[in-house]
Amino acid sequence: MNGSPFQATALAHPNIAFIKYWGNRDEQLRLPLTGSLSMALNGLDTVTQVSFNPGLTADRFILNGVEQTGAALERVAHFLEHVRQLAGINLFAQVESGNNYPSSTGIASSAAAFAALALAATKAAGLELSESELSRLARLGSGSACRSVPGGFAEWLPGSGDADSYAIQIAPPEHWDLVDLIVVVDRSEKAIGSSAGHKLASTSPLQTLRIAGAPERLEQCSTAILTRDFERLAQVVELDSEWMHAVMRTSSPPLYYWTPATEVVIWHVRAWRAQGHAVCATVDAGPNVHVIALAEEAAWAETQLRALPGVLEVLKAKPGGGVKLIKD
Ligand code: PMV
Repeated sequence: MNGSPFQATALAHPNIAFIKYWGNRDEQLRLPLTGSLSMALNGLDTVTQVSFNPGLTADRFILNGVEQTGAALERVAHFLEHVRQLAGINLFAQVESGNNYPSSTGIASSAAAFAALALAATKAAGLELSESELSRLARLGSGSACRSVPGGFAEWLPGSGDADSYAIQIAPPEHWDLVDLIVVVDRSEKAIGSSAGHKLASTSPLQTLRIAGAPERLEQCSTAILTRDFERLAQVVELDSEWMHAVMRTSSPPLYYWTPATEVVIWHVRAWRAQGHAVCATVDAGPNVHVIALAEEAAWAETQLRALPGVLEVLKAKPGGGVKLIKD
């Protein structure tokens, strides 16, 4: 149990969705309308320590050294409630979490956050969950977190209910030498987070069409990964990203996450691929662009990207593994 009883520390990576999750059929349980598929991002680490402590009168949450209150604390405390129920304990916990990547880069950290919290908290509470049980639990904190549990190239099976809605690894990180070049064009906090965004998805008339085509796109993406077919991957990843942003822009109220620099990056990535370079672009709920490249193209692509107007920073990540326990 990572040293002392009631305490454990876990490390998890965020992930980039190749086939997106946008919209729930059950908001409370975070059951998605469709399956989704992602790659875990190695080198971007969230480390979370959980200590259940009889001396505490409430849960505490410290993020990157800063004590959290309000909505951030409530979300963690609500998640810990699930763990207390599973373990049959009634102790409050201190949660200390840190990211090695700046939160200002707009990389969704909630996936890594709830994957790490799920493992550290259940271990600290004396539970031994299977990977699928852990993935289900992480899903309750943030949908995309269920994919950070197995890591690698992971598919979230939408399932028929809580029990079978979790992620599985379809290929390990070493299966394909891809690189995610995370192109930061805006460092500001987004106004509407994804939890609120999922609730708006059904207000778009395009969501039904997006959902109808999602299983086919997921199948295409999965096959492209398993056969290491970059051109096939590129086409379906870009198409799926466009579908999600089309839904966002046509919901009420509309969500418009892109900036002019987002467009500039995407435009160039498409032009470079037309010239024969193995690069494609996808965007999550924010303005920053994830440029997926074959490893041998990454250095060239990074140089090109850094020279584009509006690019503030480029981070690099290879495929990463799943959540794991680490020494305190
Ligand atoms: O897990 P959430 O609620 O933060 O939603 C993630 C939404 C996207 O990042 C836009 C897509 C995805 O599948 O990760």
